[in-house]
Amino acid sequence: MKEQRGAFTSSFGSMMAVVGSAVGLGNIWRFPYLAGVNGGAAFLPLYLFLILAVGLPLILSEFILGRASRRGAVGAFRYLAPKTKWYLVGYMGVTAGFCILGFYSVIAGWSLRFLFDAVLNAHAGQSYEEIAAGFRAFRNSGWQPILLSGVFLGLTAVVILKGVEKGVERWNKILMPLLLGILLVLCVNSFTLDGFREGMAFLFRPDFSKITANTVLDAMGQVFFTLSLGMGVMITYSSYVTKSENMLRSKGIVTLIDTSIAIISGIAIFPAVFTFGISPTQGPDLIFLTLPNVFAKMTGGQYVGILFFLLISIAALTSMVSIFEMMTNYLMEEFQLKRRRAVVWLLCALFFVSSLCALSQVEGSRLMIGKYNVFDFLDMLSSNYLMTIGGLLIVIFAGWRLSPKRFRKTFTSDGRYNNRIYPLFRFVIRFIAPIAVALIFLSKLNLIGG
Ligand code: PFF
Repeated sequence: MKEQRGAFTSSFGSMMAVVGSAVGLGNIWRFPYLAGVNGGAAFLPLYLFLILAVGLPLILSEFILGRASRRGAVGAFRYLAPKTKWYLVGYMGVTAGFCILGFYSVIAGWSLRFLFDAVLNAHAGQSYEEIAAGFRAFRNSGWQPILLSGVFLGLTAVVILKGVEKGVERWNKILMPLLLGILLVLCVNSFTLDGFREGMAFLFRPDFSKITANTVLDAMGQVFFTLSLGMGVMITYSSYVTKSENMLRSKGIVTLIDTSIAIISGIAIFPAVFTFGISPTQGPDLIFLTLPNVFAKMTGGQYVGILFFLLISIAALTSMVSIFEMMTNYLMEEFQLKRRRAVVWLLCALFFVSSLCALSQVEGSRLMIGKYNVFDFLDMLSSNYLMTIGGLLIVIFAGWRLSPKRFRKTFTSDGRYNNRIYPLFRFVIRFIAPIAVALIFLSKLNLIGG
């Protein structure tokens, strides 16, 4: 028998769920390190521009598809374009979900490890080299990262098992305000540091000469990643939202919150980095190696460290919940599986993938695909290709394949809101967003070939 479809019960709850998906490691781990390697302030204006030109139109497109069909990633296309191959876009999303959860859960596991270390004050008095050596030993053990990413996947599964309302909605309603609170405390703490001015200048004083083709690509990949776009997660979540919600308003707020949290994370992180004379251009290790080192030197650093790694763990969990829910919904809709059974299958499969990712990081590991280890390969495949191509196809579908009448009805909630601004968004969704994504994507292919 088919289980009843879940639904969010309040607009606050549905907004927190969407924010929970968007705000994650992408904001607190990926954004600061990308801003760091791309020259700080050079990155920011570009990122903001792409959020408006590509991010907002895309999140709206996914919401239109989810709301118009009341189905998940694959089902939406089957319903809205029956007897066509469009449903393959949904399959691409499910594949991207596997890839992302595989490596994302490993990073989430790292944050748990640093949380334990902070609670035990294990890094007190350690130098940068000592912290780095400890982290290397942790990764090389193989089993420790596997165990911790397994814990994260398990926690995610527990939330999903409870269903859309009692699991996804309820936990996001609790965790998201908590996350905001912690972030604000960390941000205020940052104001008291000596490196505050330098950190701020690094982040906010624009230097357009630093913008290169790679900066543009990184910024666009980040826009997709941070707003959870291009893989049907937002289609699935919007299929749980009541039809009367003002979509433009709520998605505008979500986009604003997500962007603000990325910037606030930068404010919380860079002053600390400058205060202790560490280079902000570290790359992916920025928050995992630099910050424990900063906390080890700071008065009260242990508590700041606990709050920080708690923050990252919460952010990771709610994002993982959204991907897991998209895939659970897919199995339930396509194969009429019960939620429990779908979750168990997914958990086993994902644990396998995440274990491969963790093992591929052991020094000398032969788990490679081409020149990448499995971890980097899945990151590259999903963020650079599956999400971008998926996003491009989704926005084309919404703008060109969906009937204008249905588009309008869904966008304006049957004529209730945004009737005046609607033509502008239709234009952006039909022309600006797809052209921008396609151009940037093509230039990426050139770069790879070159
Ligand atoms: N938006 C999340 C982040 O910024 O960490 C990552 C993510 C979640 C990507 C869900 C994709 C997704 F479907």
